Amino acid sequence: NWSMADFIDQQIEKIRATVGDKKVLLGLSGGVDSSVVGVLLHKAIGNQLTSIFVDHGLLRKGEAEQVMASLEGKFGLNIVKVDAKERFLSKLEGVSDPEQKRKIIGNEFIRVFDDEAAKLDGIDFLAQGTLYTDVIESGTDTAQTIKSHHNVGGLPDDVQFQLIEPLRTLFKDEVRELGEKLGMPSDLVWRQPFPGPGLGIRVIGEVTPEKLEIVRDSDYILREEIKNAGLDREIWQYFTVLPGFRSVGVMGDGRTYDYTIGIRGVTSIDGMTADFAKIPWDVLQKISVRIVNEVAHVNRVVYDITSKPPATIEWE
Ligand code: XMP
Repeated sequence: NWSMADFIDQQIEKIRATVGDKKVLLGLSGGVDSSVVGVLLHKAIGNQLTSIFVDHGLLRKGEAEQVMASLEGKFGLNIVKVDAKERFLSKLEGVSDPEQKRKIIGNEFIRVFDDEAAKLDGIDFLAQGTLYTDVIESGTDTAQTIKSHHNVGGLPDDVQFQLIEPLRTLFKDEVRELGEKLGMPSDLVWRQPFPGPGLGIRVIGEVTPEKLEIVRDSDYILREEIKNAGLDREIWQYFTVLPGFRSVGVMGDGRTYDYTIGIRGVTSIDGMTADFAKIPWDVLQKISVRIVNEVAHVNRVVYDITSKPPATIEWE
């Protein structure tokens, strides 16, 4: 008779036994998973915990400000915000292979944590909000890698942390239940999933500042209209991708030759399988018109109507 309350007690005990009087660094993204880990860790070890929020330049519009506003000083969390935009973007320059991009981003996260730990002195543990889904898809427990999730795959040899990953056996829906049990507000617990590599895997191929801006601005419009339509809770995930090819269009009297934006919206329980969301036509139409009118260099919008499997939720 497994219950969330038991899970919380067991994890707190386990964390205390592992950590002792040492210090822990948490990679906090502002999403459900790492926030739940933060609250759990604070319950277990109080101010032996320091949280790091990394702005890797691959965040959504307004996200850094929103995360700090909703979490800094809340639930006992004190958060160090690190501006690492240059670091990440320069490492990604010229790289277009999806797995390589994922590995670069995952590795750079660890490097940033390592640098911050050195400043704080005496950090032995790194905590992450890794889920069972991340572990499965990264292929460490099964034979085949679907995609390398940014937080799975262990640490480089020269990095000394021990990992703490209390959610490693849970699926997203269980983490949400856990968050609610821990008394976290529902707008935080029900936030749509956002992958650690962020917009870096939604710009298909090489990531450039210009392409990031296109995906960021179109994503913002999509999120606004999904919320306006009252669909934000029933659609598991909704975002835009920039495939990177151009096609011909006509605007006013003139020919255009510009980018296509893809819209992805899915319903799911745990992210392992998903159906494309049946977003009403009029909502899609509004989103399409706004994206083409408001985002420079976009002249076409398409909707992804594949489920998972055979497609995955993210395009890379
Ligand atoms: P896929 O694209 O594999 O995504 O169908 C399943 C779920 O996982 C999210 N995702 C990630 N989450 N780090 C994360 O924290 C990652 O590297 C990563 N890659 C995919 C994806 O957004 C979806 O919710």
